[in-house]
Amino acid sequence: MEWGMANRMAQLIQPDGHALFLPVDHGYFQGPTRRLEEPRKTIEPLLPYADAIFITRGVLRSSVKAESTKPVILRVSGGTSMVGKDLANEGITTSMEEAIRLNVSAVGISVFVGSDYEKESLLNLSKLVDDGEKYGIPVMAVTAVGKELEKRDARYLALSCRIAAELGARVVKTYWCEDFENVVRGCPVPVVMAGGPQVDSELGVFEFVHDGMQRGSIGVNLGRNVWQNDFPVAMIKAIRALVHQNATPKEAQKIYNTEKEKEPKKS
Ligand code: 5RP
Repeated sequence: MEWGMANRMAQLIQPDGHALFLPVDHGYFQGPTRRLEEPRKTIEPLLPYADAIFITRGVLRSSVKAESTKPVILRVSGGTSMVGKDLANEGITTSMEEAIRLNVSAVGISVFVGSDYEKESLLNLSKLVDDGEKYGIPVMAVTAVGKELEKRDARYLALSCRIAAELGARVVKTYWCEDFENVVRGCPVPVVMAGGPQVDSELGVFEFVHDGMQRGSIGVNLGRNVWQNDFPVAMIKAIRALVHQNATPKEAQKIYNTEKEKEPKKS
């Protein structure tokens, strides 16, 4: 691996081999998502506890200080919305030159395996990898399911992750699922887990993050289950302990319970 690529990967994946990415890119197709209506207010208190932030250029420019040294994974796919015909019909929204101008550590793109736009999204990934490799910029592939959340089983996710890795993604973001080790085993690049819609209890989140890490994930790219929580800073601190300190779900719950006393409840 060339120095630039290796350096950017090291900005994302910490010396312990693990990573906590904070995604705040949801507005690119969901609009002002609950508790991300004013991105700066959501992002600022959480940023110190994330290893990198996953974000679009618009929110990066408007809502993150240029003085920030936090590594950025730039969301560069989009062009669809929740109310449009098909979420899978994405294109590349941001050029590699713009990514370089914004001094990012990686770019991220969704792929929609099994959808009507499977081929387009996979060729978009391939093109992005070609461009990224030219400049030493890693690509994170997001195995997206659109509105079909029930697709999230090991067979489907293993297929999507493997294809993304084969096409050159340096990191793959997918969902936790039962038998998650089958997803990781078939994917020759690091896998991080997203959370999807908010889970009923904090312990439920801690349990799936812990389970996924035991089964080979290097960490998380967890959004709504952090910043839609009533106590988001307590939540990210607890998840950090799972990712970087090998905490158990019970220990994470204890951290959450202690830390939430220090934070005003979200209205
Ligand atoms: C949205 C994304 C998000 O980055 C990803 O889904 C992670 O966020 P969450 O944990 O809220 O699912 O790709 O397009």
